[in-house]
Amino acid sequence: MKNRLINNLLVTGGCGFIGSNFIRYLLEESDFSGRIINVDKITYAGNPENLREIDSQFQGRYFFEKADICDPGRLAEIFKTYEIDAICHFAAESHVDRSILHPDSFIQTNIVGTFHLLELAKRNAEKLALFHHVGTDEVFGSLGETGYFTEETAYKPNSPYSASKASSDHLARAYHKTYDLPVTISNCSNNYGPYQFPEKLIPLIVLNALEGKPLPVYGDGLHVRDWLYVRDHCAAIWLIMNRGVLGETYNVGGDNEVKNIKIVETICDLLDKTVEKPSKLESRRELITYVKDRPGHDRRYAIDFSKLKKELGWVPEESCESGIEKTIQWYLDHREWVERVRSGEYQAWVKKQYG
Ligand code: NAD
Ligand code: DAU
Repeated sequence: MKNRLINNLLVTGGCGFIGSNFIRYLLEESDFSGRIINVDKITYAGNPENLREIDSQFQGRYFFEKADICDPGRLAEIFKTYEIDAICHFAAESHVDRSILHPDSFIQTNIVGTFHLLELAKRNAEKLALFHHVGTDEVFGSLGETGYFTEETAYKPNSPYSASKASSDHLARAYHKTYDLPVTISNCSNNYGPYQFPEKLIPLIVLNALEGKPLPVYGDGLHVRDWLYVRDHCAAIWLIMNRGVLGETYNVGGDNEVKNIKIVETICDLLDKTVEKPSKLESRRELITYVKDRPGHDRRYAIDFSKLKKELGWVPEESCESGIEKTIQWYLDHREWVERVRSGEYQAWVKKQYG
């Protein structure tokens, strides 16, 4: 099977966690030889510094445009200037807790922004090889003790975030069915790795544990997530973009279900082995603090990714143990990055919400 021909790839949200890892993966590790145009609004979660070396090493192949996907005029200019022939759409408000407090920007970016991009893609359909939409497993809602999400599982989103992402998946799918737009969709489980904004569980726990701060665990800590190292997700997206069947969706997962409390304990134990403990602590586990549960908190996610494995040959490469070790080391080596992205406003909110 031949790869799709992509020359000028528009990546939305490329300054965020997965988007910046994806751009690095494409330029440094993949067979992609075209240009990448990264369009990002730079919200609190977007940081162009994530791609500082890429910017200097790949002049002529990497371009950054600060723009809002909700601004159709600006998007149209960018589309024309760079002769865009494919889109990988990451840009989104991504944090569930924030969507519970302030859903407005989730509706705006995740639904209306995706609509504007699809409209633009439709207007340029004759030049467009692909519109890949990056989705989440949270659209399927919550599982009980057993079972897996498949591509056939009915959507049942429980948070404003997942409802907005469900809506954007539906729009992308509808543009394929109605207008024959060349769309593929992926729905992935929880990512972790370098450059993740420290509001998400793994980087938050690593940094708090280093600094001797409380480690907030929501509810009873027995909620289950399926964890995937971000590079594996990037490789899956690129494979789907090249060889995925138009109109199809693909689940992406790590085959790696872990209870939240176990993730937190693992991080504590790994740090205790390698980094001096804050004074008066026998173990960083003493910092674990059970706090009020997240409203509507999904109990368990688990992904059946056999379609992606069977049809396109993708499997995750990184084990959870090595992935978490690598991630901890990355945060230890990038303290300056951490300080620069940390938002005073967010810390204040966490304090108010969870004490
Ligand atoms: P992130 O919050 O780290 O990054 C989002 C990026 O989008 C930021 O750079 C931000 O500035 C940009 N952005 C936000 N609103 C924008 C707008 N209106 N216009 C242009 N840019 C805008 O998110 P992430 O964790 O990297 O997630 C990326 C995508 O992957 C999202 O669509 C998310 O739903 C999906 N996803 C994430 C995970 C995960 O575990 N993080 C798992 C599955 C799917
Ligand atoms: O499943 C994919 C999704 O994973 C993505 O679509 C989202 O963009 C991404 O943010 C992530 O959502 P989660 O809500 O699962 O991630 P988060 O890191 O916020 O939380 C992971 C689990 O840890 C969840 O069960 C809530 C819990 N948690 C989280 C935080 C921040 C805690 O117990 N304490 C915390 O302080």
